[in-house]
Amino acid sequence: MLMQSNDYSRVLYEMGVGPLWVLRQAEALTLTEAPMSSTETASLSSDVVEAVTDTPAIPDIPQADALVSVVVSVPAKEIAVPEENLAVLPVHSMSWEELQPVVESCRACGLCQGRKKTVFGTGDRQAKWLFVGEGPGYNENLQGLPFVGAAGQLLDNMMKSLGVQRGDQAYIANIVKCRPTDQQGKDRPPTADEVAACLPYLHRQIELIAPQVIVALGKTAAVSLLGLDMETPVGQLRGKLHQFKGIPVVATYHPAYLLRKPADKSKAWIDLCLAMKSLPIISASSAS
Ligand code: URA
Repeated sequence: MLMQSNDYSRVLYEMGVGPLWVLRQAEALTLTEAPMSSTETASLSSDVVEAVTDTPAIPDIPQADALVSVVVSVPAKEIAVPEENLAVLPVHSMSWEELQPVVESCRACGLCQGRKKTVFGTGDRQAKWLFVGEGPGYNENLQGLPFVGAAGQLLDNMMKSLGVQRGDQAYIANIVKCRPTDQQGKDRPPTADEVAACLPYLHRQIELIAPQVIVALGKTAAVSLLGLDMETPVGQLRGKLHQFKGIPVVATYHPAYLLRKPADKSKAWIDLCLAMKSLPIISASSAS
């Protein structure tokens, strides 16, 4: 999807960030070799992006390039799925058509008891970009779609800033497909058991989509996807290229957090720049 630079500026303005980053000589870029590994792409020249000066500047935003030199390869741990789940959920070889109804009727954990609708995921099933959130909230549980509220609007703007949107080069999914709530009926993060029960579905979705980059939205998404300790500090997750089965993973703030703390939107933009840099050059140029 191509955007005029004015549209692009507006989107970044909506995200609360600037300046606008574009590829230099984007039109001249062609993919002449096989896609680079994340390690190779991480060492892309810092000349690849430059600031366009007619957009609102935000003071003191560190260059994304400074972060790219820190590459951490975290092997995704295989999460043990309880045997009784495997017996009824042979998800690893399912097609999209087989997977969706299995998710809709899933009873692998207690979250099924309170759900109105499962939230399977939505978007381009051959997406370059996969955005992974934590789990459905109140509205998502009612509508069966991910990120439908104000946080979803911000996520839409974040995607637009990358030149993609729901259904066009982007897919949105969650770590768990049913809404986790506490005793008071409020949203809560999923437990480790709930994550373990649901994760095989996301793993299969990732295999089917084969995205070029995954953006983990928030700590729960990042640690669950990467098989890290739940207590891993956010500071250890951001600013690095992680990997899930060879696919670059970038961790950033959850849009709901960014709505509460808009000052951190500029950091999220830096994370998105890092994710963009991990793409093969031909993909990144489509955002300019
Ligand atoms: N928050 C998430 O993490 N996912 C959604 O789908 C909605 C809100």
